[in-house]
Amino acid sequence: MSEVLDVKRIKEDFPIFKKKMRNDASLVYLDSGATSQKPLSVIEAEKNFYTNYNGAVHRGSHLLAEEASEAFESAREMVAQFIGAPAQEVVFTKSATESLNLLAYSMGNTKLNNGQNLIGTGDEILVTEMEHHANLIPWQQLAKRSGAELKWIPVNSEGRLDLENIDKLLNQRTKIVAITEQSNVLGTFPELDLIVSRAKQFQSLVIVDGCQSVPHKSLDVLKSGADAYVFSAHKMLGPTGVGVLWAKSDLLNSLEPFLFGGSMIDSVTMEEATWAPIPRKFESGVPNMAGVIAFGESIKYLEKIGMDQISKHLEDLTNYALKKILDVPKLSLIGPKDSNKRGATFSFTIEGIHPHDVGQVLDQYGIAVRTGHHCAWPLMKKFGVSGTTRASLYLYNNEADIDALVDGIEQTKKYFKV
Ligand code: ALA
Repeated sequence: MSEVLDVKRIKEDFPIFKKKMRNDASLVYLDSGATSQKPLSVIEAEKNFYTNYNGAVHRGSHLLAEEASEAFESAREMVAQFIGAPAQEVVFTKSATESLNLLAYSMGNTKLNNGQNLIGTGDEILVTEMEHHANLIPWQQLAKRSGAELKWIPVNSEGRLDLENIDKLLNQRTKIVAITEQSNVLGTFPELDLIVSRAKQFQSLVIVDGCQSVPHKSLDVLKSGADAYVFSAHKMLGPTGVGVLWAKSDLLNSLEPFLFGGSMIDSVTMEEATWAPIPRKFESGVPNMAGVIAFGESIKYLEKIGMDQISKHLEDLTNYALKKILDVPKLSLIGPKDSNKRGATFSFTIEGIHPHDVGQVLDQYGIAVRTGHHCAWPLMKKFGVSGTTRASLYLYNNEADIDALVDGIEQTKKYFKV
């Protein structure tokens, strides 16, 4: 039994848990890997922005624009402090997907000081077979545009990285390594430290997709050894439409901009333009001001609970969930079956029942899970399935939610006579 967090108390902070689901059932929310729920303080922060100080940031000389700019930059400071980075290295985008596209696009357009392309023919980009599409397709496209070759570290039948050929896969030709810190399907934590330290031997740039991991554990980007990290506000109690790109100043300064327009310039003539200093060089147009400011509230909320407490709570729930889930007859867990180096995400199939049908029956009991390919087609192919049912947990879940899932699965099996 996890006693690290008072989940009953925490649930009271999230208005959605008062909602009655189908058949008057209470909500059992097991889909935080897709998007997390929001505490009232985050919802109120968005409303407060529009009610009291809606003005365009970094423009205008009036009080509203000034207050909005201050709150926006203070949210940047909060995010920076949360990940242990200087504020100028935190770029706001519209999603983690955009952050990855920004990196891949800009890297493809950037020349090094010696005049050579940052990436080109003869170079390699290394990903893993467990990436979701957002951390695969931008690199596929960069490889096609630049003439570089895309390589990947395979996944073994346990759902962990197969590192047997790592010496061949990560070598002096590897210019970029793009890797998740936690698989959105399998829950696996790949051997990031090993890969980062090997990448550093070859001066490869390491891009970490922290979409699933940053909401779950404390992060110190400077200690991580990575060159860039991306993550999404909406998976860590914040609003949708806000992504973060953190990258080292040297990298951000060297990259060409991604989106051009207002705010990202230093000077403009009819023929030419020069770029504002980072991070604004990468923030063209009026940003999602209310979203960024409310994201600051979600950071405050997470810090109040404590990231170490959250990760300990999720560790306890992972142990509990594995015991319960692995005991269910006819259920196959796709991914690590022990709690070593894996997080609180559980993908499974039930013999003889389509994952969408599992999801639909669970929904009748108020249990929200994700079904389908989870934006990770290559991984589905690897495990020979067209999709899975996925339960992904967060700070507001407890053992009772896992019990409800297991009961719901048994009801589903009864319904389909399996
Ligand atoms: N990558 C997100 C998920 O796993 C969308 O659901």
